Amino acid sequence: MEKQWRCTVCGYIHSGENPPEICPICGADASFFELIPQSDELNIATDIKKSAAKPVIAQPDNEKAIRQALYRISYGLYIITAQAESRDNGQCANTCFQITSDPARLAIGINKLNFTHELIQKSGKFGVSVLNQTGHDYARRFGYSSGRDADKFKGLAVHRGESGVLLLDDALVTMQAKVMGQMDAGTHTLFLADVTNGEILQEGDPMTYAFFRASK
Ligand SMILES: Cc1cc2nc3c(=O)[nH]c(=O)nc-3n(C[C@H](O)[C@H](O)[C@H](O)COP(=O)(O)O)c2cc1C
Repeated sequence: MEKQWRCTVCGYIHSGENPPEICPICGADASFFELIPQSDELNIATDIKKSAAKPVIAQPDNEKAIRQALYRISYGLYIITAQAESRDNGQCANTCFQITSDPARLAIGINKLNFTHELIQKSGKFGVSVLNQTGHDYARRFGYSSGRDADKFKGLAVHRGESGVLLLDDALVTMQAKVMGQMDAGTHTLFLADVTNGEILQEGDPMTYAFFRASK
């Protein structure tokens, strides 16, 4: 009988002589896979959730455990846009989350090297377009190249919000936000911002980071 391997990060089961190089569900590398003992095999098809939720059999070293734990935090996927000195740009980000609802306040984590970071710091404003579950191309276009030398919006349907930032037409909702504080987080800056505008464009479920990784 073929060997079966369980991804200790997301519970995905792989059949084969060796574990896969990369988990197709969560992206964890081969070192995160553990061989499932033969006696477990009967339960796998019917009870993946239960088996994945079992207490970890062998604790990995602390560094690995931290990485595995971080992998299990769930996120959405967003296109963060900004405008300053007549330049528009946007980037993909998963680190965007509500801090408080009253006042409507959110935070984003943006790499200091990104062009979008420069524009947010100059303008003190940014836009958030919340991707729907078919937004893979937007995540690729805005997430895998820098807008310093290219116009990422070329050919895309966008509209300009009251604050001046561009927003995707093909998004579930959009928000515009005004930075009210920031924190140096090493490679990234954590921008804390008040939401000044919101618009509802589509019905549907948002894209999650896990769904993007699993279906990209
Ligand atoms: C799925 C995905 C999630 C990302 N999440 C973030 C994030 O939360 N923060 C960040 O700074 N960069 C993130 N990135 C990387 C930026 O989108 C990427 O570096 C982008 O090219 C920066 O573009 P810019 O230089 O035009 O601003 C993500 C990329 C992808 C594909």
